[in-house]
Amino acid sequence: MKQKHYWGILLLSGCVTLSMATLAWTDEDERWEHERGEHGFIQQTAGVSPVSNPAYKTECSACHFAYPAGFLPERSWVKIMNNLDDHFGENAELNAQTKVEIENYLRGHAADRIPNRFGRSILRSVDAGATPLRISETGYFQHKHREIPSRMVAGNPKVGSFSNCLSCHSMADRGSFDEHGVSIPGFGRWED
Ligand code: HEC
Ligand code: HEC
Repeated sequence: MKQKHYWGILLLSGCVTLSMATLAWTDEDERWEHERGEHGFIQQTAGVSPVSNPAYKTECSACHFAYPAGFLPERSWVKIMNNLDDHFGENAELNAQTKVEIENYLRGHAADRIPNRFGRSILRSVDAGATPLRISETGYFQHKHREIPSRMVAGNPKVGSFSNCLSCHSMADRGSFDEHGVSIPGFGRWED
């Protein structure tokens, strides 16, 4: 009788440990997406706003998709806009007036100016002293894309690099980056 009781406790504590481990794991993954409110409830924030400035849309989509401003902190946009003559190996310089207009738009809609679900996670994944020039080099971005093999990206002529958001996120220009809407050219829908 005593022996049986002992095994019961052992079994029970085993279950508790197991479920706690699962919880901890889920929390680690969800950590990037959810904000805990003051009462511990998980709060969902709105997604990123689609691009609304015509000058930005025209000038900055000549070589690639016009990235949503809410994906980088203000300091990143300032640095990008002030180094356009040496922009990832390209010259993307603008006339002074257009540059000021676009810079103001990007700064005013940056991740730390207009909170959005992804922007918050991106900010949290960037060191306070760092000024990333790429969305694709932030910790959050790399965490989210860690399961995608390079043959689907760099080794895929229809994609080429992670900077080509629109080739996989076909509704990115409407501000939708939902993982359920992803389709990788040549490979099809992404099933997690
Ligand atoms: C002359 C071509 C050209 C123009 C115009 C241009 N870019 Fe780029 N941009 C590039 C190239 C090339 C890359 C690197 C892409 C890659 O690595 O595949 C890049 C990358 C970027 C990235 C980083 C993307 C990532 O990987 O997260 C940002 C942000 C960016 N550009 C912003 C801008 C802004 C803002 C403007 C308008 C002021 C602009 N670009 C105009 C060529 C251009
Ligand atoms: C090669 C295809 C590909 C490219 C290019 C790509 N993504 Fe993704 N992205 C994915 C896939 C697949 C997922 C879902 C990953 C998962 O859940 O395992 C994802 C997930 C995301 C998420 C999280 C969505 C959610 O609901 O949690 C964001 C935000 C995102 N991508 C933004 C971007 C941005 C911004 C760019 C460009 C700078 C980009 N992605 C480029 C394939 C891509």
